[in-house]
Amino acid sequence: MTTRIDGNAVAADIRESLTERIDTLESEGVTPGLATVLMSDDPASETYVSMKQRDCAEVGIESTHVEIDTDAPAEKLHGAIDELNADPEIHGILVQMPLVDQVDTRRVLRSVDPLKDVDGFHPENVGRLVAGHDRYRPCTPHGIQKLLEAYDVETEGADVVVVGRSNIVGKPLANLLLQKAEDGNATVTVCHSRTEDLAEKTRNADILVAAAGRAEFIDGGMVGEGATVIDVGVNRVDADTEKGYELVGDVDYESAAGKAEAITPVPGGVGPMTRAMLLYNTVKAASIQSD
Ligand code: GUN
Repeated sequence: MTTRIDGNAVAADIRESLTERIDTLESEGVTPGLATVLMSDDPASETYVSMKQRDCAEVGIESTHVEIDTDAPAEKLHGAIDELNADPEIHGILVQMPLVDQVDTRRVLRSVDPLKDVDGFHPENVGRLVAGHDRYRPCTPHGIQKLLEAYDVETEGADVVVVGRSNIVGKPLANLLLQKAEDGNATVTVCHSRTEDLAEKTRNADILVAAAGRAEFIDGGMVGEGATVIDVGVNRVDADTEKGYELVGDVDYESAAGKAEAITPVPGGVGPMTRAMLLYNTVKAASIQSD
C-alpha cells in the first residue's frame, strides 16, 4: 500500500506546538506580529496572502496586511517596507512574490531587515543557509523536511533528486538536504529544464521532489520502485468546475502512486506545510527580536 502523506495533519501538529510557544511569549508581553505585503493582482497571490492572514489568527499571531497599487512606483513599496522594518510590533515581513514588473525584486529582497525576513530570501539569510548556519529556513523546503521527518523518511545517505532550481524551493532545499545534519546528509542531484535524460535521473531517486511548476509532468515511468515522492507543484489548469479551473501538482498522482512507497497529494501535501513554517519562522523572529 502506498502511503498518502497528509500535510494537513502534520501542519496541524506544528500549529499546535506553536500555540504553546506563542502563549509563553504572550506571558512575557510579546505578541508575534507578521506583515504581509502584496503588490500584484495575481488572484493566486491574493488567495495565498489571505490564507496566511487566517493562519496567523488561528494561532494567535497578530497580522497586518499592506497592499500597494499595482501601478504605483517602486518607491511606494520601499516606503512601506522601511516603515515595517522600523515597527517594533512587526517581527516578520513577507513580501508576496512575484512582484509587478516596475519593481526590482532583488532590491526588495535586500531591503527587508534580515531579522524580519521570515521567507529567508534576503542574501544574508541565503548565505547563512548555504554556509550551514541558517537563521530562517525558507518555508517550503523546511516544510518538506518536516514532512519527511514526520513520516520517518531517512535523508541520511539517500539519493535525492530535486526537479526545479528556483530560489524559493529547489536551490534552498538542495542546500538543506546536503547539510551535515540529522535532517540532511543526503546526496542531492538538482535537475531542471535543460537536464538531459531526466527520467533516468529521477528513476534513481530514493526521494524525488517535483518543483518545476509544470502540471503533471512527472509520471509513474519517471519514479523508481519504492521512492518517496514530494510534489511541490500548484498549477491551475482549465476545468469544468465552479471556478473554471482545478489545482494539479507537478506529478501525475495516480501513475506515480503506483510506483511510490509514499507520496504527497495536491492539494493537502506540501501547501499546508509551507503555511505552517511561515508561522514557525514568525514565532522564531519574535523570539529573536525580544531577547
Ligand atoms: N510566492 C510563492 N511562494 C512564495 C513564498 O514562499 N514566499 C513569498 N513571499 N512569495 C511566494
